[in-house]
Amino acid sequence: MLAIVGLLLGILPLVSGSAKCRCQPSDACWPSEQDWNALNDSIHGHLVRVRPIGHVCHEPFYNRTSCNERVRLQTDSNWRAAQPGALQSFNWENWPQRHESCTIEAKPNSTCEQGRIPWYSAVVHSVDEIQEAVRFAKKRNIRLVIKNTGHDSSGRSGAPYSLQILTNRLNNITFHNNFVASRAPSRVNAPTTTRVPAVTIGAGVMVGELYAAAASRGYIVVAGECTTVGVAGGYLQGGGVSTVLSPMYGLAADHVLELEVVTAQGDLIITNDYQHRDLFWALRGGGGGTYGIVTRATMRAFPDMPSVISTISFTATQADDIFWQTVTQVVELTRSLSVNGNSGQYIIGRLSNSHWFVNWTMFVLNETDSKSVDGKVAPFLSLLNWFGIHYQYRSTEYPKVSTFLAIPKQADIGGVGYLQSSKVVSESFMGSIGGASRLVASLSELSLDPGALVTVNVLGGQVNVNTSGVCTSVHPNWRSSALLVVLMQSFPPTSQAQAAAHEKLTQINTPVLTLIDPGSAGVYFNEADPEQGHFQAAFWGRHYERLRRIKDQWDMDGVFMVRNGVGSEDWDVESLCRRNATVWSSTSNCRADALPS
Ligand SMILES: Cc1cc2nc3c(=O)[nH]c(=O)nc-3n(C[C@H](O)[C@H](O)[C@H](O)COP(=O)(O)OP(=O)(O)OC[C@H]3O[C@@H](n4cnc5c(N)ncnc54)[C@H](O)[C@@H]3O)c2cc1C
Ligand SMILES: *[C@@H]1O[C@H](CO)[C@@H](O)[C@H](O)[C@H]1NC(C)=O
Ligand SMILES: *[C@@H]1O[C@H](CO)[C@@H](O)[C@H](O)[C@H]1NC(C)=O
Ligand SMILES: *[C@@H]1O[C@H](CO)[C@@H](O)[C@H](O)[C@H]1NC(C)=O
Ligand SMILES: *[C@@H]1O[C@H](CO)[C@@H](O)[C@H](O)[C@H]1NC(C)=O
Ligand SMILES: *[C@@H]1O[C@H](CO)[C@@H](O)[C@H](O)[C@H]1NC(C)=O
Ligand SMILES: *[C@@H]1O[C@H](CO)[C@@H](O)[C@H](O)[C@H]1NC(C)=O
Ligand SMILES: *[C@@H]1O[C@H](CO)[C@@H](O)[C@H](O)[C@H]1NC(C)=O
Ligand SMILES: *[C@@H]1O[C@H](CO)[C@@H](O)[C@H](O)[C@H]1NC(C)=O
Repeated sequence: MLAIVGLLLGILPLVSGSAKCRCQPSDACWPSEQDWNALNDSIHGHLVRVRPIGHVCHEPFYNRTSCNERVRLQTDSNWRAAQPGALQSFNWENWPQRHESCTIEAKPNSTCEQGRIPWYSAVVHSVDEIQEAVRFAKKRNIRLVIKNTGHDSSGRSGAPYSLQILTNRLNNITFHNNFVASRAPSRVNAPTTTRVPAVTIGAGVMVGELYAAAASRGYIVVAGECTTVGVAGGYLQGGGVSTVLSPMYGLAADHVLELEVVTAQGDLIITNDYQHRDLFWALRGGGGGTYGIVTRATMRAFPDMPSVISTISFTATQADDIFWQTVTQVVELTRSLSVNGNSGQYIIGRLSNSHWFVNWTMFVLNETDSKSVDGKVAPFLSLLNWFGIHYQYRSTEYPKVSTFLAIPKQADIGGVGYLQSSKVVSESFMGSIGGASRLVASLSELSLDPGALVTVNVLGGQVNVNTSGVCTSVHPNWRSSALLVVLMQSFPPTSQAQAAAHEKLTQINTPVLTLIDPGSAGVYFNEADPEQGHFQAAFWGRHYERLRRIKDQWDMDGVFMVRNGVGSEDWDVESLCRRNATVWSSTSNCRADALPS
């Protein structure tokens, strides 16, 4: 019975006569100059006609001064975040299928094409401007994209022929000592998610800004590693992992107390445990760019604390048996130390001279004495000595862990090409006999070029517990996790390197990651291969059915759509045209978990 309702929801947009494709610049339905001016007036003159950042390096716009300036600025991740005409990685600014690009370093007489850079941008300064832009896109049937920082490694913050809403300027931060969610019942026995320290952030607030503001008030917040990743946008809507804090406090989505959202109708609503709970659930794990535009997010804040952070790094000229045996010991060491909310991370990668390196970090939280760690690490260091491996070991006492969080990380360099792919590895796999060796056997099968990194983050701990009874829409397998393995592949700015990197990821490395812990699905939506197969099951498992129903309830016309996002099976890869037959109504993939009858 309910399956039939699902079927109807899937095909209704077609029978109700909405156009199959969004309006493109060559179509008669594309807004006229006057139409765009009217939009501009309604958003206080904040509409911009966008060109790719490289356009001043190409005729007929060539300008030596501006071009040189952009050559210099383009590696600045903060600058890229603020530019309507840029993403963080050049590969999603290009549109390889149409051979369109506008490379900054290219010859001035080569043409600059728009690629996946939006045609217009609403550089919004207030929530009402977001509402106007959404209403315009819906009414005029224009592809809408939301760009926060442009970090998404599947290119979800850009799209051809689109109107962009750039949230970068919405950077208010407000702290609360005793936050009470709107319309929370005033009974004494209210859930612990009320009357707690919290912070409300605007859509454009970045990790670095949030950490700095929180630290100055004695707080820490569960947010990401890279200083210029946004918090309220893709990060927390996709789940949100903190390398340092997740084992102690869980995912960022677990600590969201309230979200203010502009819906596909252009309405401004509040979602929390007491209002629009379905949408609130979907927005905490269902992925950015899908359910609405989060304009403000309120997250729980925690007291700052001391920590000891220890690192070991070593290199090897080749990845031989000794190297992988050593890595296996790294895995075991990390498992033995990541208890009581302590976290760890190891990075395996190749240097430009093609040597291998391992960087291991342990985050011992609420600890002041580095000697406590030194003793536990000593046997491993002896092993390295025994193998004749040179290493660097350092333990640093941070009276406040916020000081460490605020240190800019290497990954903040913009402009390089990068792709990611990931796997959530279960505790039952890692806890089984030979788990560590089997993990390392898989890692050794990855094909890593210089510039590729495998980062393994400790999960488990509080990630596997429902904090304060919250129930989020991330893949249920996050709740029985041990590790998040992420492959980060970077490559130089040429179309050949881009094509080769995409192919290697999808053909070789993603299948290797998939086969780690083959019995348990789970891929991180925010750090996924853009070609991820069976994405519904990989990102959300049995939560997909409900996510799709909520999507259809709140955004039947598909105003918000992203690559491999909820509902995207109905659209082509750039979400410009609906497919003839929706996967939703014609295949069994996302129906594996039938609706409750
Ligand atoms: C160098 C680097 C380090 C990273 N480190 C971490 C980490 O430590 N932990 C972790 O969990 N992830 C990490 N990530 C992944 C990160 O979570 C994703 O890149 C995420 O998509 C970034 O979100 P954004 O809003 O900053 O980016 P954008 O690319 O601007 O947006 C991402 C998606 O969210 C949508 N979106 C943006 N703003 C809104 C909004 N207000 N409302 C609705 N939708 C919106 C966009 O349309 C897009 O689909 C990292 C990525 C990189 C490249
Ligand atoms: C929007 O209006 C502002 C202020 O009048 C103007 O500077 C800007 O060029 C306009 N944008 C477009 C796309 O016309
Ligand atoms: C080139 O750009 C610079 C800096 O933006 C500007 O001052 C200058 O007028 C431009 N030159 C031309 C010829 O347009
Ligand atoms: C572009 O300029 C280079 C020299 O800078 C020249 O060799 C090339 O033929 C030119 N290409 C076109 C299409 O004009
Ligand atoms: C940001 O905060 C200022 C000062 O409190 C306020 O005037 C402004 O309206 C806020 N802007 C947004 C977009 O919330
Ligand atoms: C690994 O550690 C070395 C030595 O501390 C450091 O120079 C390098 O930047 C680190 N690399 C990464 C990717 O963290
Ligand atoms: C940290 O340690 C202090 C004192 O040892 C304790 O009171 C506090 O609860 C601990 N904090 C956490 C988050 O465990
Ligand atoms: C988390 O909470 C939800 C709903 O409250 C429940 O269905 C689920 O089983 C819980 N999961 C765990 C691991 O406790
Ligand atoms: C969709 O249908 C149209 C008209 O029947 C056809 O021309 C087109 O090839 C179809 N597209 C796909 C992707 O099946």
